[in-house]
Amino acid sequence: MRFLVIGGAGYIGSHFVREATRQGHECTVYDNLERGFRESLDPKLPFIKADLLDAKTLESTLEKGRFDAIYHFAAFALVGESVSQPELYYENNVEGVRVLMEAMRKLKSQAALIFSSSCAVFGTPQNLPISEEDPKKPQSPYGKSKLIDEWMIEDYCHAHGIRGMALRYFNACGADKDGGIGEAHDPETHLIPNVIKAALAKQTVTIFGDDFNTPDGTCVRDYIHVTDLADAHIKAATYLCAQKGPLYDAIHLGTGNGYSNLEILKAAEKVMGIKIDHKIGPRRAGDPAGLYADNRKAKKILGFVTRYSDLETILKTALAWHQEAPHGYNRE
Ligand code: UFG
Repeated sequence: MRFLVIGGAGYIGSHFVREATRQGHECTVYDNLERGFRESLDPKLPFIKADLLDAKTLESTLEKGRFDAIYHFAAFALVGESVSQPELYYENNVEGVRVLMEAMRKLKSQAALIFSSSCAVFGTPQNLPISEEDPKKPQSPYGKSKLIDEWMIEDYCHAHGIRGMALRYFNACGADKDGGIGEAHDPETHLIPNVIKAALAKQTVTIFGDDFNTPDGTCVRDYIHVTDLADAHIKAATYLCAQKGPLYDAIHLGTGNGYSNLEILKAAEKVMGIKIDHKIGPRRAGDPAGLYADNRKAKKILGFVTRYSDLETILKTALAWHQEAPHGYNRE
């Protein structure tokens, strides 16, 4: 299949491109490189450096490309930043998707649309595991931007005959098994890279809170390897392309297993064969105690499987990346 990968130079986008290429699909990457890295992509791949808000470039790309599926991986995804600078999230995440949907409508695009959403649309969930239809009460501008996007995509799909799907990720993590790419956020806010980086630098990692209503008092999350996410995205295109439009659905991508922050720390100690210094700090604002997915719909509709999402593989691949590129793509 031919894929347009918007935001393909980011963490999840670049892993998707790697896996889709490995599975024989053709990817064209569209990224403004504001938060993505050209080095995360094979230099031989077709690459368009442009902003999603640049409707003209987007439309000419869609017109020329005859894509089977369009992927949107181009959102900003820092919860804290979204609280202090919501304008960034409403512009990049919401307006960006509106421009994309408008381009698809105007050009009567026949491509399937696959959108990266997040379990952040639920806020503090009412039920665990979280199923697709559970009530949505996002607590941050980031989560709200994703929910607005989902609504917008659903409406465009029904009104304009588009086939679309929102894939709601739980905690994306790990790195490609063949190396060379991985998680490189600045600032890094995620638990697994922070634990590994602290261990490699012989520093102390802070665990945010140990007084949550969970078995060991630390938060519980559902960690899914980024290559398993990528594979599910390819399955989503296969599924959508076999359907007649209009169609819209939302599907959860998680393993269904929850691990606490202290369990992640212990698992990293086991993989690295060292003791990792940690301290307990105050709770981080807005962290729900537990988040894990009901993934039955993903299994049923997409044939979702996980091949890399055991903690050992997640941590080993993440460790290999951080050892290879301690400063991310900035390799000095
Ligand atoms: N944590 C620490 N120390 C750190 C970093 C994180 O204790 O240095 C804790 C967090 O407080 C949380 C857990 O580790 O309890 C997981 O935190 P992450 O930042 O790794 O992941 P989140 O679950 O907060 O974030 C994920 C996605 C977001 C999404 C959010 C929805 O990465 O994009 O779920 O809640 F918005």
